[in-house]
Formats: sequence, structure tokens, C-alpha cells
Amino acid sequence: MIIAVDGPAASGKGTLSKRLAKHLGYAHLDTGKIYRAVGFSVLASGGDPGDPATAVAAARALTPEALENPDLVEDSVAAAASKAAAIGQVRDLLLAFQRDFAATPPGGAAGAVLDGRDIGTVVCPDAEIKLFVDADVEVRAKRRYKELLDRGEATIYSHVLQDLKDRDDRDRNRSVAPLKPAADSFVLDTSTLDAENAFRAALAYIESGNTGA
Ligand code: CDP
Repeated sequence: MIIAVDGPAASGKGTLSKRLAKHLGYAHLDTGKIYRAVGFSVLASGGDPGDPATAVAAARALTPEALENPDLVEDSVAAAASKAAAIGQVRDLLLAFQRDFAATPPGGAAGAVLDGRDIGTVVCPDAEIKLFVDADVEVRAKRRYKELLDRGEATIYSHVLQDLKDRDDRDRNRSVAPLKPAADSFVLDTSTLDAENAFRAALAYIESGNTGA
């Protein structure tokens, strides 16, 4: 059983995916971390994440331990991730790991929840359940802003909003695996839903058995 959860930055897909995985006893993979790890590695070596040769080398050298780096949450890393993520060869290199996780979830779990941008469209096009989690850009910026404040980071709301818009533009308009809902996905708009209600709505959809697959 594979549940694909896609959506733009700060839409609530990560929180939702974790809760679904916990509730169902499935393994969870935040695929954004993989791209963030590539972005982080390029930044750490002083390189340009948008340069194909540099980003491809970083993707090739990626180890599972790199996904545990607490610095991956930084917004500068997210921006670098989205530049590296626009490069087709980088995406190709990261595909096998994601598909293996989905096909053989760690710990012998009966299913996997993967969240990202292209899970329902490219990584797992045959996923039984596909959710596309979206929210108004201002709502998403406020959520990200609050997250940063809660982490004790000095930040300015207008910058957070602009960074989010820039990243969404890059993710939606790239030529490879752009962010878009799969044709058979259930679109969940969380603009007016808190985490609990988003979880309930997603679970109700999953349990209805009324899915596209
Ligand atoms: O947490 P947030 O939604 O802000 O971002 P993320 O899921 O950690 O993803 C960081 C960046 O990685 C995104 O802006 C995308 O450019 C890229 N990404 C991707 O291209 N494909 C995925 N499956 C996951 C992330």
C-alpha cells in the first residue's frame, strides 16, 4: 500500500504524512529531505546548487546519514534544494532510493507514505492513494513564519512570503517533474483546516475506498 502526498511548501503535507503513517503503521519518507541534503552539501562546499555538474556530484555522493542532519530545516537549504531539484539528472539519481523505500518499506511495514512534489506523478504513479495538499500562499507563509519564530530564528514575514513564492514558481515551472496534482489525486485544501481536521479529512477519503486507483 503506497500513499503519495504532494503539495507546495508549507502546505501541511509533512505533518499530515507523519500522522497518517503513525495511524496506519506505515513507514514514512519525507522526500524533501533528500533534495535538501543535496542542497546542503553543495552550499557547504561553497558551490552553486543550480550548477548541474556540482549538484549531480552531490547527489551521487549522498549517504542515508546525510538525511539526519538537523540543519536541513533551514530556509536557505530549501532554496538550494529547489535549485538542485530542477536538474533532471539529480532527480534521476534520487529516484531508485525513493522507489525502493515505497516497494520495500523499512521495518517490514505493510505500507509507505511518501511526501514530496512528484510522488503521485513520477516516483509512484501507481500509488493506491494520492493526496495533493494545498493552501493559500499567505496561509502557508504564516505557517512557515511561525515555525521559524518557534525555532528561535530571527526572520521577516515579507521575506518568508517572497521565498515561498520564488520556490513555488521554480517547483511548478521546471521542465522535469514539476509540482502539479496527479490527475487521479484527491486535492485537500488546508487553508482553513488545522492539522487535526486535515488528518480527519484525509483519513475519511482513504477509508472511503473511493480512490482513483
Ligand atoms: O518542507 P517544504 O514543503 O518547505 O519543502 P520540502 O518538501 O523539504 O522540499 C524542499 C525542496 O525540494 C522543494 O522546494 C522542491 O524543489 C524539492 N523537492 C522536489 O523537487 N521533489 C520532491 N519529491 C521533494 C522535494
